Amino acid sequence: MHVPVVIIGSGPSGLLLSHLLHIRGIASVILERKNRQHVEGRIRAGVLEMGTVGLMRKIGVDQRMNAEGILHGGIYISVDGKRHHINMKALTGGQTVMIYGQTELTKDLIAARLAHGGDIVFEAEDVSLQGIESDKPSVRYVKDGAEHQLSCDYIAACDGYHGVGRRTMPENRLKTFERVYPFGWLGVLAKAKPVADELIYASHARGFALCSMRSETVVRHYVQVPSEDKIEDWSDDRFWNELRTRLGPDDASLVNEGEVFEKSIAPLRSFVAEPMSHGRLFLAGDAAHIVPPTGAKGLNLAASDVHYLSEALIAKFCENDERGLAQYSQKAIARVWKAERFSWWMTSMLHRFGDEDSFDGRVRRAELDYVLSSDAGKTTLAENYVGLPF
Ligand code: FAD
Ligand code: PHB
Repeated sequence: MHVPVVIIGSGPSGLLLSHLLHIRGIASVILERKNRQHVEGRIRAGVLEMGTVGLMRKIGVDQRMNAEGILHGGIYISVDGKRHHINMKALTGGQTVMIYGQTELTKDLIAARLAHGGDIVFEAEDVSLQGIESDKPSVRYVKDGAEHQLSCDYIAACDGYHGVGRRTMPENRLKTFERVYPFGWLGVLAKAKPVADELIYASHARGFALCSMRSETVVRHYVQVPSEDKIEDWSDDRFWNELRTRLGPDDASLVNEGEVFEKSIAPLRSFVAEPMSHGRLFLAGDAAHIVPPTGAKGLNLAASDVHYLSEALIAKFCENDERGLAQYSQKAIARVWKAERFSWWMTSMLHRFGDEDSFDGRVRRAELDYVLSSDAGKTTLAENYVGLPF
């Protein structure tokens, strides 16, 4: 069987790409290793840039997002218990972000893809790529014990950090950049009212904390924990107490406790692989780069990659113009590095690294104090948080 584009991975990047191609009449098949329930159940990001919202609107998968998403025009930054407001809307000429869980976005995208006759092969095992340097690439996979092969024109690896796409690129063509942080985030989903009307990013002597939300009745909160910590170390009581401590006495009284129905620890990492294409293979989203979540950029970067890649594939299939494909990596990577920088910067300003009593520690603190005391500093933060244009 031949299909113009084979997409590996049904995360946000693979699903969005498949839809963007579909509305221009270009067929694709998505090969996903996990089952549908697993993909739809993963709890991840919660903040959408308006560029990402715009892509959902462009493909017409926006009804539930429009109804249930919550627009936020600012964030709070709490330093040692004192809250500062970053009025992003005022600082960026009216821009906002939308609170809408990645889980919900993924469910909407899968449902719409299937409703439009889209082909998603869940539980596709042993996916392997052949002939990426030729003009006849193909992808093999196993489903229910039977081996299948798809020939195609292009392969999009939207298969996340642990996927097969990046590993198929010749090692000597790939340059990688990495920073691993000595801490992770313990995240909790709970049935409770949000702490405030907008997200609170807290920097405290005991470490970073974040109060986020999914709706008026569900909160998503995080605390910085040492990399070695295990989920068993964190009872619900210990978590709520730590969160309150890091918010300081004024905001602690605003924390509403509720039934915790998900708890997990995610490591923090910065990672970039260059280039994002080789022959007929194109990488998008986490397959090519990882950011620490402090800037809320992971999902949004996946969306901007896919925007560039879909435009390039559409130019090729509709106008036989290959320039976009040739420039894809360069274009995407320029925006990726800006989001990497912002995510690293937010992470370094707001977390405790254990070297606070050193030159580096003091400089990080001075930077945070400066940003919060300066309109120029706050504007820089706001402009990056709402998302750079693409
Ligand atoms: P993914 O969502 O990872 O999707 C890749 C898909 O490919 C998966 O469905 C996977 O099963 C599939 N796959 C992998 N390998 C294969 C294979 N060999 N064959 C077939 N299919 C394959 N970002 C934030 O902004 N805020 C957060 O709080 C946040 N929390 C996160 C927590 C975790 C645990 C993780 C892993 C990421 C988090 N992120 C967060 C980042 C954000 O979720 C990602 O940037 C986003 O999911 C990227 O989308 P993607 O489609 O590129 O990759
Ligand atoms: C979330 O709601 O999960 C979330 C929000 C903002 C971030 C990271 C995660 O920076």
